[in-house]
Amino acid sequence: MTAARPPAKRSRPRNLLGVLAFLKRHPGGVALCIGLLLVNIAIEMTLPQVLGNTITGLRNHLASGNEFSIWPFALLYLGLISVRAAVGFILGPIRNRTIQSTLSDLRSAVYNALQRLAFTYHDRANSGELISRATTDVWRLQDFLFACLLLSVDIAVSLVATTTLIFLISPALGFVALGTMLPTIALIAFFASKLQPQWRHVHDQHGAMTTVIQENIAGVRVVKAFAREQSEISKFRDKKETYMNTLLNTVNYWASRVPRAQFLYGLSTPLALWIGGREVIQGNMPIGDLAKVVFYLMAIGHRVGMIGQFTNIMQNASASAERVLEILDEPTVLPSGTRPMPPGRGEVTFDNVSFQYAREKVLKTGGKAKVEDKPEPSIPRPVLHNVSFTAHQGQTIAVIGPTGAGKTTLVNLVPRFYDPTEGRVIIDGVDVRELDIPQLRRSVGVIFQETFLFSASVAENIAYGRPQATRAEIEECARAAQAHEFISELAEGYDTIIGERGISLSGGQRQRIAIARAFLMDPRVLILDDATASVDSKTERLIQEAMKKLCEGRTTFVIAQRLSTLQHADQILVLQAGRIVASGKHEQLAKESALYRELFNQADAR
Ligand SMILES: Nc1ncnc2c1ncn2[C@@H]1O[C@H](COP(=O)(O)OP(=O)(O)OP(=O)(O)O)[C@@H](O)[C@H]1O
Ligand SMILES: [Mg+2]
Repeated sequence: MTAARPPAKRSRPRNLLGVLAFLKRHPGGVALCIGLLLVNIAIEMTLPQVLGNTITGLRNHLASGNEFSIWPFALLYLGLISVRAAVGFILGPIRNRTIQSTLSDLRSAVYNALQRLAFTYHDRANSGELISRATTDVWRLQDFLFACLLLSVDIAVSLVATTTLIFLISPALGFVALGTMLPTIALIAFFASKLQPQWRHVHDQHGAMTTVIQENIAGVRVVKAFAREQSEISKFRDKKETYMNTLLNTVNYWASRVPRAQFLYGLSTPLALWIGGREVIQGNMPIGDLAKVVFYLMAIGHRVGMIGQFTNIMQNASASAERVLEILDEPTVLPSGTRPMPPGRGEVTFDNVSFQYAREKVLKTGGKAKVEDKPEPSIPRPVLHNVSFTAHQGQTIAVIGPTGAGKTTLVNLVPRFYDPTEGRVIIDGVDVRELDIPQLRRSVGVIFQETFLFSASVAENIAYGRPQATRAEIEECARAAQAHEFISELAEGYDTIIGERGISLSGGQRQRIAIARAFLMDPRVLILDDATASVDSKTERLIQEAMKKLCEGRTTFVIAQRLSTLQHADQILVLQAGRIVASGKHEQLAKESALYRELFNQADAR
């Protein structure tokens, strides 16, 4: 059975930890980044000491004429900032490599998940949304990784170190620092807590916008054929504007809150000058120490600003992390069996099979939940009911029935594109659920109702299932599929690159490439879904011929409205509303089934 439990809901921190786990794959890079960062922080903490001591030295020199040389201080300062520059020089590339490698791992994980997910998932997910998550959301995590790897360490270590140093100089000023810093951080945290749902909304709107773009590119011919360009443009404008407004609301919300927090912290310096200044006047504190405190307070102010940046990145990224991890955690996979394909020639049995498609959408799009996002309070609508039959090895089984009767659904259960809701599909004596999926799928060739060709050469498209096939094998299959002739006429023959949907090829040509592709796999069971539905009679004859060769010695399921196929079939299954209402050979059905006669006459008329 397809695992159909709902995706595990992660809490926000778990989302972020889920992404952080990817950093663990680069321990060397992470350790180096943190190590170098700590060196930098140590330098930053030392610089105010040098400055403060210089000021105190100068002050004493002015007041009492003490010997004082400025050179050691200036050289020390120069030395420190040189080391800092060198560290920054090394740190940049290491940080970039670590972050980009981690992002690259994340991209692979998302891509692998998309490959792993079952048909049931892809039926319900929308591809624009998936593209947005696999690209833009992963990209947004770059800032997040930067924030976690560097900002977080920088902020935490610097704040603790600086506050401690201020306390060591003057406990009173330490309390000034703490007393302004903590409420500021609390205020920022409060504002930030409002931000994550807003960012999620922004990203969902981005997904919705991408969906419109993706659908328009995929459906550009339909758009033009129906002269709907203008309305598609306004549809996109709406989505784009909703996205921009949501984004502006979010960034403006943040932009207007940060100055309030900064003002609060800004009070620390006048307070320190007032309290510390009195200490200096009373002679309880060297003037250089007050200067050190002011420098440290400035360093804290810088980090407090970084907290704002950090939380904004975190909220933004945790929304993206959520969207990415929803894919990584998606449980809709078809668990593979472990048994190898048994010996046999392709006997297929449907044992009391019923099936219904899952209904709910798997991805939220456009922010607000839509009605169809919710699982429907299931009025079960089985597509197949108690289907039982056996296709003996080498037989040709024709499946016939009105549109929507469930023909495609029925044959899709053989290579386990879906699992039956009830009953079993058995190949050569073994339930398909027990079989190793890759082996099963290599043993069942499918020529889909619609042929998809990749943007690659003709040869690569034919050899898709067996990339190691030789050119001779590819050509042999193309000849058998009656495709060799037209392929040879293409500009670069087998090396001609064809578009992602084989745009430069006709429907009949695409189908023959699909047939050649199936030939090359030499499957024991073959499924032809309406493979000759869209071609002229000459091409049809060519395809029929190709099919005949392809079917020899294999169990073949043909969904066809073609007279000749029906007449030659060993068994015809007449499907109506998901039930087999009649089965047998042509002559027998022509006598016994009114529905068959009707369908047959329609086929005849074609
Ligand atoms: N991926 C899917 N998710 C949900 N419902 C589906 C899915 N595919 C098909 N259906 C529904 O299942 C029913 C049977 O569809 P199916 O594609 O098997 O019909 P068909 O007999 O192949 O029709 P046609 O002759 O038009 O190809 C239809 O009601 C259809 O709406
Ligand atoms: Mg169909």
